[in-house]
Amino acid sequence: MSDRGLKIFTCALSILSLASLCCGFNPVDNYLIDCGSSSDTTVGDRVFLADNSTSNSLSTPKNIFARASTSVTSSDYSLLYQTARILDGTSKYTFSIQQPGRHWIRFYFYPFVYDSYNMNRAIFHVSTQDHVLLSNFSVNSNVVKEFSVNVTSTSLEIIFTPSSNSFAFLNALEVVSIPDALITDDASTFDPLGTFQGLFSQALETVFRVNMGGPTILPENDTLGRTWVPDQDFLINENFATNISKISAVKYVEGGATPDIAPNAVYGTATVMKSGDDPRSNFNVTWQFNVDPGFQYLVRFHFCDILSKALNELYFEVYIDSSIVAKDLDPSILLQNILAGALYMDFVTPLNDSKNKLRVSIGPSSIPNVLPNAILNGLEIMKMNNSLGSLSGSAPLLSDSRSKKNVGMIVGLTAGAVIAVVVAAIMFMFCRKRKKLAHQGHSKTWIPLPVSGGNSPTVGSKYSNGTTVSVNSNLGYCIPFVAVQEATNNFDEAWVIGIGGFGKVYKGVLNDSTKVAVKRGNPRSQQGLAEFQTEIEMLSQFRHRHLVSLIGYCDEKNEMILIYEYMENGTLKGHLYGAGRPSLSWKERLEICIGAARGLHYLHTGYAKAVIHRDVKSANILLDENLMAKVADFGLSKTGPEIDQTHVSTAVKGSFGYLDPEYFRRQQLTEKSDVYSFGVVLFEVLCARPVIDPTLPREMVNLAEWAMKWQKKGQLEQIIDPTLGGKIRPDSLRKFGETAEKCLADFGVDRPSMGDVLWNLEYALQLQEVVVPGDPEENSTNMIGELSPKINNFSHVDNSGLAAQSETSSVDDLSGVSMSKVFSQLVKSEGR
Ligand SMILES: *[C@@H]1O[C@H](CO)[C@@H](O)[C@H](O)[C@H]1NC(C)=O
Ligand SMILES: *[C@@H]1O[C@H](CO)[C@@H](O)[C@H](O)[C@H]1NC(C)=O
Ligand SMILES: *[C@@H]1O[C@H](CO)[C@@H](O)[C@H](O)[C@H]1NC(C)=O
Ligand SMILES: *[C@@H]1O[C@H](CO)[C@@H](O)[C@H](O)[C@H]1NC(C)=O
Ligand SMILES: *[C@@H]1O[C@H](CO)[C@@H](O)[C@H](O)[C@H]1NC(C)=O
Ligand SMILES: *[C@@H]1O[C@H](CO)[C@@H](O)[C@H](O)[C@H]1NC(C)=O
Ligand SMILES: *[C@@H]1O[C@H](CO)[C@@H](O)[C@H](O)[C@H]1NC(C)=O
Ligand SMILES: *[C@@H]1O[C@H](CO)[C@@H](O)[C@H](O)[C@H]1NC(C)=O
Repeated sequence: MSDRGLKIFTCALSILSLASLCCGFNPVDNYLIDCGSSSDTTVGDRVFLADNSTSNSLSTPKNIFARASTSVTSSDYSLLYQTARILDGTSKYTFSIQQPGRHWIRFYFYPFVYDSYNMNRAIFHVSTQDHVLLSNFSVNSNVVKEFSVNVTSTSLEIIFTPSSNSFAFLNALEVVSIPDALITDDASTFDPLGTFQGLFSQALETVFRVNMGGPTILPENDTLGRTWVPDQDFLINENFATNISKISAVKYVEGGATPDIAPNAVYGTATVMKSGDDPRSNFNVTWQFNVDPGFQYLVRFHFCDILSKALNELYFEVYIDSSIVAKDLDPSILLQNILAGALYMDFVTPLNDSKNKLRVSIGPSSIPNVLPNAILNGLEIMKMNNSLGSLSGSAPLLSDSRSKKNVGMIVGLTAGAVIAVVVAAIMFMFCRKRKKLAHQGHSKTWIPLPVSGGNSPTVGSKYSNGTTVSVNSNLGYCIPFVAVQEATNNFDEAWVIGIGGFGKVYKGVLNDSTKVAVKRGNPRSQQGLAEFQTEIEMLSQFRHRHLVSLIGYCDEKNEMILIYEYMENGTLKGHLYGAGRPSLSWKERLEICIGAARGLHYLHTGYAKAVIHRDVKSANILLDENLMAKVADFGLSKTGPEIDQTHVSTAVKGSFGYLDPEYFRRQQLTEKSDVYSFGVVLFEVLCARPVIDPTLPREMVNLAEWAMKWQKKGQLEQIIDPTLGGKIRPDSLRKFGETAEKCLADFGVDRPSMGDVLWNLEYALQLQEVVVPGDPEENSTNMIGELSPKINNFSHVDNSGLAAQSETSSVDDLSGVSMSKVFSQLVKSEGR
């Protein structure tokens, strides 16, 4: 689908969801029958019609209306349980379907004794013309079975076939249209990673529908008449989890869920890790569900970040059994950065003939500097029909069983007894298990909460940087000059790691042994002081693990000193084509790009006003000891609309080769200018050569131009870093190339957002890491809009000028720590 197609699609979706917001979903087909009842029954806001109404046709050997002798009074639904229809012999309901598509089929069962019929003993099969829904089915307490099937013909047949010597019964029945958008044709798979296609033709049985951290939600509070149950009974360790609730915060946004997907009562409550804000918390919250082996399951997660107070605070992992299905998930990122937007994700489990438990876990992401937490708002587990079209055992389709019916009759007498024994045995085991579970439930309460943090204290130390060094909380990050002197061995020349026009950068060690980079500006003017202070305020507002953080500053004695976290591994640029560094693997490069993209994405979206970095380049992407990327020098970035043009035009000089061509037309920088520059960085990472190299032949001087030429020819592999040769999977390279290409679109509007770029890079990483069967890309290549015709404006620019610029800027880049534009600006401002 093209970008435009996608937009129209999501737009249509949101109109749909608006419609349903105000009026609720209005099902075209809506059959509600109170079986065995001669009068209508109202339950909540719905009316179940008397069983003799003409809206459906039932063919059955005998009409037996059963009525319970004692009245059942447990819930609203008990009204439906007062009566039942006994189906003594194969019986068929036929519903005429006005609108083809997916429909609910819900059966209500409540066994009681009527006349000679003891419904507790009934054993029967239920199927539609296409699928087996229940086989060898029996019940001993009230139960609702919910299925959904896509009806493609003009009628739906529901056939009840009693086991030999038995009969069938039913207390109530629903056949109701479902909005088309509820179940789409595809879902993600894992193990291996890919896409499942063909959900349209699946019959689904809802086996679990859970409202995490909240109460039961009854059909009248759900636009599609669904029931959601609380999650406590499924939690493996309740001590690890806690509830939160904030229903008013839930937002339904474009690209996310709609109220028909799940009501806000589901999205507005959640179970989260009971981490107590302890940065060392490291455990999973796990739910376990009993499932039938030999079936695949559609698992739908509902997420809504009602936990965070701001964007980019929550990242977590999601597992199904032992497979990770979402890594570093931040639901808001996937919803155009709307906090508390409702999101759902579908996964199809692999087929396993021996697995009878399905576990779902959430746990903290391994990203440092983020408080560990994880959230789940709702979960649905739907059983999918097997290759025989059955949702129950290996039952053959009814057409087959019909022809074998006579045989069944003969075997019946003996088999009936056997079945009864087997069923009794199963029930006995089931009851025991329930008892056992209940018992465990009690003992759970006194299991002491494990001290989970002991093994990972690393997060804590980084968190505390900001506070341990601050001498006075009112002054925030102010560090006494003597402490800076001590940290840098009194500005020891041997500790200088970089020199620029503004002054020097020293490596330093604070007395709590935190390594730092200390930038000491030249003596300042009054105006310089004002800017210095503004910048410190701004810098201290941005805290993100992919942004180099400011640890402190010092303005005593006319000094202008900024103290940053120390980045052990220097600049990305240095690793790409600097001297003497081991070459980075493709995976490392992708992870670095992803990290940097996250940092930029945060700058663009994590603050009330978009902040434009304005100098994105490989020399401003720094790497810590674990090669984690952090964006540096965002300190003098400006918020979007407030750009003052004269300022911009003087500030952009440093980085030709990375510069947005639109700047030449509009004299204006936007977030999309950063996206352009980042696109150039992507090609730089791939090709490992300077973005401007005047020593090369004319057509090769400008990397952006050169790489785009090969990308358009579809032969990007011709110019990649030779050390990567043969090590990049073609799919990953293609995704990466496409992403870079979109970033370099001539017009800002045609470029993706940093969020899209991030998504695509993550996808490129997945494609690198996993063998993907088939071509699942069909669904995801479209994350970035169609490519606009490319005319590279760099051709206007005089090359000798560029060469000079790149030379001066490479002086700046010599340091392990990026030379700060902060200081170059401070120096400049002195001159004004
Ligand atoms: C259904 O049966 C009841 C009582 O037997 C009767 O009053 C009612 O009119 C019947 N309705 C239809 C549609 O036949
Ligand atoms: C039902 O199945 C048909 C045929 O496979 C498909 O075209 C249609 O989109 C499906 N509808 C739904 C709601 O699944
Ligand atoms: C969580 O929610 C359930 C159901 O609403 C409630 O019984 C339980 O007490 C809640 N637990 C906490 C810790 O709030
Ligand atoms: C359910 O709906 C009823 C009215 O239909 C309302 O009074 C009640 O508060 C709702 N409950 C929840 C949990 O939303
Ligand atoms: C969470 O569960 C997954 C899957 O079982 C496992 O790989 C991971 O190590 C667990 N994490 C923690 C912190 O226990
Ligand atoms: C099926 O599940 C069982 C039990 O969880 C597991 O031991 C086995 O490895 C699984 N088989 C496959 C093919 O995944
Ligand atoms: C479910 O049944 C349909 C036929 O209605 C079939 O096409 C599909 O392959 C079955 N699903 C699985 C997982 O076998
Ligand atoms: C019902 O159960 C019996 C005994 O367990 C088995 O032989 C038979 O195949 C089952 N029938 C169906 C349709 O699954």
